[in-house]
Amino acid sequence: MKRILLMIIVMVAASFLISSCQYKFTVEPKVVPPDPDVPVSFSEEIAPIWNTINNCASCHNGQTHSLNLQTDVAYDQIISKGLVNTEIPEESKIYTYPHPDAGTHSWSVYSASDAQLILLWIQQGALNN
Ligand code: HEC
Repeated sequence: MKRILLMIIVMVAASFLISSCQYKFTVEPKVVPPDPDVPVSFSEEIAPIWNTINNCASCHNGQTHSLNLQTDVAYDQIISKGLVNTEIPEESKIYTYPHPDAGTHSWSVYSASDAQLILLWIQQGALNN
């Protein structure tokens, strides 16, 4: 009888521990780096960062700011304005300038995972895919 009681206590304690771990996990989600071997899609993953996930295009629309990040023109814009550096991807202005750790452009920044995805896309050649 004592054994069973002890087992129940241990199980209850363990379930508390597990649920408290899960709670912590949802409060501080870890940034999982994107898989470098999986090609990043410009149209499906990068353009939405500027238009759906963040509202960069509310300012970057060609009028409020000359840099236009609206989906249909974003690719031509960042290439023609020299904001992408495929030789040294880490120095690409479209990556560095709104980076959450940069301090420049502090009013609107990428999430850490957006920034990682953009860097990987540039490292993969900044394709219009
Ligand atoms: C509230 C308006 C506003 C929003 C929203 C905004 N920006 Fe900007 N952005 C600006 C202004 C104004 C500048 C120019 C001022 C400066 O140089 O800091 C700028 C500059 C930039 C530049 C440098 C452009 C160049 O040619 O040098 C980049 C890159 C940029 N923004 C990207 C973004 C991205 C990506 C987002 C969304 C995460 C974003 N911006 C959201 C207003 C905005």
